[in-house]
Amino acid sequence: RHRRGRIRGSPAVGGLSWSTDVSVARPHRATAFAPASVGNVAVGFDILGFSVDALGDTVTVTRSLSPGVRILSARGVAGDLPTEPALNTAGRALLAMQEAMHLPFGFDVEIEKGIPLGSGLGGSAASAVGAVVAANAVLDQPCGKIELLKFAMQGEAVASGSLHVDNISPSLFGGLVLTVGIDDPRVKQIPVPENVRAVIVHPRMFLSTKEARSILSARVNMSDFVWQTANLAGFIAGCYTDDLDLIRASLEDVVIEPQRQSMIPGFAEVRAAAMQAGALGCSISGAGPTMFAWAIEAQTSIVRDAMCAAFEAVGIDVDQWIIDLRSEGARVVSELTR
Ligand code: HSE
Repeated sequence: RHRRGRIRGSPAVGGLSWSTDVSVARPHRATAFAPASVGNVAVGFDILGFSVDALGDTVTVTRSLSPGVRILSARGVAGDLPTEPALNTAGRALLAMQEAMHLPFGFDVEIEKGIPLGSGLGGSAASAVGAVVAANAVLDQPCGKIELLKFAMQGEAVASGSLHVDNISPSLFGGLVLTVGIDDPRVKQIPVPENVRAVIVHPRMFLSTKEARSILSARVNMSDFVWQTANLAGFIAGCYTDDLDLIRASLEDVVIEPQRQSMIPGFAEVRAAAMQAGALGCSISGAGPTMFAWAIEAQTSIVRDAMCAAFEAVGIDVDQWIIDLRSEGARVVSELTR
């Protein structure tokens, strides 16, 4: 069988021009890890998020001669995930890739869920991101990250009922990420002060993102709009200038959180406990029920213990993580080439 040259850009051997195409042989199977994420970050509803590398979804994609997408398995903390590709976040993202690129081959997909569903930690986004990053590794001509973002967005929409990027972008790019625009998204990784960490506390209960979106009012008071705009601007400016006082003054959601907090048992107590323990801010992770806080490194364990104790006081078991806010996004973790 004709094999193409293996070394990208290698000169013709011994003066023989044995192939003008010197691309590397591409893998036919790849596995990618896509991290969890905290959406909104209190002040950037649907546009701001940060990655949580401590947990994530792992997706394996194999090129197949049969066209289309097949979900071969969905394991891990998956619960009952749909295996019909158009209804599955990973499957829908890959269908979007196939349609846009007119790919003449298909994808077989295996999903290992590490992010609990309905946790507010970007599980549906991570499966979609993992799928497109793994599939990209088996394409003859890989796409850029913005194209992958658009494909993954289609997958995320299956689960949440709307196009939003605050989980997709950080899972794909890593770190604290702002995304401006949906059709033509601009992605900006925001620097985070060196000594700041995030505390993530996941109460073991399920909350549907669709439901948590459906209860939101379509209107915002003018005074709340001004307040939230100031908070978003202050938070981003505080991150760029290492101004912890400005971050502390700005990291507060005055629009979405008041409408959702009753869906999370113990919300007010957990938030108050975090702030009393010295957090810079504390709010809902995405649509909830997970909550997050930012704190300087020396205070993170006190903040975490206070948040966990407040959840446990209302009878809810939790999982918790303290994470670095500077982290890599989704990546290929293994490849197989025939
Ligand atoms: N920004 C979204 C929301 C994140 O809060 O509804 C959930 O996926």
